[in-house]
Amino acid sequence: MSASPSTIPSPPPQPSRHGFGFRNLLPVDRPGLILAPMQDVTDLPFWTVIHPYGGPDIYFTEYFRVHLNSKPERHILKALDENPTGRPAIAQMIGQDIPHLIRTARELQRHPIAGIDLNLGCPAPIVCRKDAGGGLLRNPGKVDAILAALRDAIEVPFTVKTRVGYDCYTEFDRLLEVFAKHPIDALTIHGRTVKEKYKSPIHYAEIRKAVDALDCPVVANGNIVSVRMAGKTLAETGAAALMIGRGAIRNPWIFAQCRSAASSDEAGHAPSLRDLLGYIRALHSTTRAEDPEATDLQHTTMMKRYMNFIATGLSKGDALLNGIRRSTGSREFFDLCEQYLDSDAPMPDEPPVTSAVFAGLVEQ
Ligand SMILES: Cc1cc2nc3c(=O)[nH]c(=O)nc-3n(C[C@H](O)[C@H](O)[C@H](O)COP(=O)(O)O)c2cc1C
Repeated sequence: MSASPSTIPSPPPQPSRHGFGFRNLLPVDRPGLILAPMQDVTDLPFWTVIHPYGGPDIYFTEYFRVHLNSKPERHILKALDENPTGRPAIAQMIGQDIPHLIRTARELQRHPIAGIDLNLGCPAPIVCRKDAGGGLLRNPGKVDAILAALRDAIEVPFTVKTRVGYDCYTEFDRLLEVFAKHPIDALTIHGRTVKEKYKSPIHYAEIRKAVDALDCPVVANGNIVSVRMAGKTLAETGAAALMIGRGAIRNPWIFAQCRSAASSDEAGHAPSLRDLLGYIRALHSTTRAEDPEATDLQHTTMMKRYMNFIATGLSKGDALLNGIRRSTGSREFFDLCEQYLDSDAPMPDEPPVTSAVFAGLVEQ
């Protein structure tokens, strides 16, 4: 298959000394498709809703916070224990205290998990100040010690999700030496530095370097909002799999569309705005059933966390979102959604370049 940006090439064969565990979770005939971990979004209701649209090959949980007094959060464990998708789920941890990371990894291994992932990318100041998440990238020596200890303690596949540096992507070479030292089962790279947060262009060349240097599968992440961007990411990096975050909240068909493009050069199902309305209704009813105690106002407020991604990905999304931000209940919420979305018009393949959440994310 050609590597043109509109199609998805198969991943190149990679040598494997390590990484069999994770590699077994990937399809053999096309690049793997993975749902990114997203705090307060990729929980049990979200997994439940997106699975019927095709869903990813592998799900990641939100991160489990690890510190002196931490216990694995019950609502995240629930996603693992009740995983309705039948697909593998990887539990992500965030923290920097080695004994407590090991303790938590042991606890997580009592649940049905396909692997454990360490977060080395979260840019939240409160996390970085504690030298956890992306903050750890300032200290490759500490990363080295954590990976050695966790690799020793974890019996299931052990994966790492990183960015390409803290201040600058030139830090990635040193980090890559650390990653190459340990037999981790996969490395996911969000191709930005911690300082770049979510809106800069992706450093594809750094991801490509990791693909060339590491024995384990490399997962490319960042800005994959369409089949075109999936093809571009694979063509630029040669990664074994793609991880999709915001693009999957906006468009739950994206995994099915990528599968279809990998097998037939076709872009797959092209949803209408009315299909999108159906997805919003599914999110609404599934999250409602999960939290029946919430008032209608609380539930409407909670829906806004998805709508930021769904609505700003549409041509008239700003107007819809402005209305939704002021709405005080589900009646008003759905009146607005119907006004803008009850139509046969196609949903745009990619978010408009002017959309706030996706600004700078779609290259023309
Ligand atoms: C709302 C939100 C929550 C996130 N939470 C996590 C998290 O818990 N763990 C993590 O590793 N990354 C987290 N991320 C980062 C995503 O996993 C992903 O790396 C990033 O959004 C880039 O991918 P995308 O362009 O496909 O969205 C979060 C991102 C967003 C937008």
